[in-house]
Amino acid sequence: MSDILQHIESGVLTLTFNRLDKKNAITTGMYTALAAALEAAVADDSVRVAVIQGAVEIFTAGNDLADFLNNPPITGASGEVPPVVRFLNILRDFPKPLLAAVAGPAVGIGTTLLLHCDLVYAGDNAAFSLPFVNLGLCPEAGASLLLPQLVGYPRAAEKLLLGEAFYAEEALDMGLINRIVPPGEVNSYTQSQAAKLAAKPAASLRATKALMKLPQTQLGTVMQEELKHFGSLLRGPAAKEAISAVMEKRKPDFSKL
Ligand code: COA
Repeated sequence: MSDILQHIESGVLTLTFNRLDKKNAITTGMYTALAAALEAAVADDSVRVAVIQGAVEIFTAGNDLADFLNNPPITGASGEVPPVVRFLNILRDFPKPLLAAVAGPAVGIGTTLLLHCDLVYAGDNAAFSLPFVNLGLCPEAGASLLLPQLVGYPRAAEKLLLGEAFYAEEALDMGLINRIVPPGEVNSYTQSQAAKLAAKPAASLRATKALMKLPQTQLGTVMQEELKHFGSLLRGPAAKEAISAVMEKRKPDFSKL
């Protein structure tokens, strides 16, 4: 079965992370599937709303760590846009309402992708984290612009520099999520909100979203700049040490880096 499940019903496209044995860690193939589904949904009038969801115990453990080391996600095959960049671009540009249902951990891109969603519902077991610095990396998905805009510089700096997990109550207080629901109900609650949106006039939704996103004029530039830094950091010694340490379940040694 595919690692990304796709389902369209009553105008709602639902994309489900389905790689539970690896905590829904996202591989290059999964980025391709997510990007292709969202790109197809833009042109498909039968899709009025999209939802990204995980399982009751985990949303996603973020980028696949083995891919980070062996198949760096920011280099595409011979001139192609790399799948992760393709996914981030359609996430940024998706013109229809995009919702996320988060239960359990949402690590790295699992949290940054939420900054592009219009509505986010989370289980009270949700744990958000932005461990980029701890992995010898830097933010992606425009988080270095969107997070300070959303929560203010001091709080964004705390989350991005220290990289410690934070939980549903704090995420609600920060404005990262819209509502906390029991973990077992987060997907169904999100579907019910998506169904409400699917019944509304599509052009009005589209215009309203586009107008709210209009001030984000710097987002494309910031995302390109992030990718340059991310790419060179990913090839550097700190990332190799940090990622190997997570995979080997040991503490990283940055004393010489
Ligand atoms: N990439 C690849 N595999 C991953 C992964 C990731 N990002 N996260 C977890 N896995 C794998 C583990 O290696 C393990 O595989 P194994 O059973 O073959 O050994 C399996 O998923 C279970 O992981 P485990 O750590 O035992 O689960 P847990 O419930 O104790 O913890 C997390 C869940 C998500 C908190 C923890 O796995 C974690 O922190 N993962 C790393 C997240 C990360 O740093 N992502 C990069 C973000 S930029």
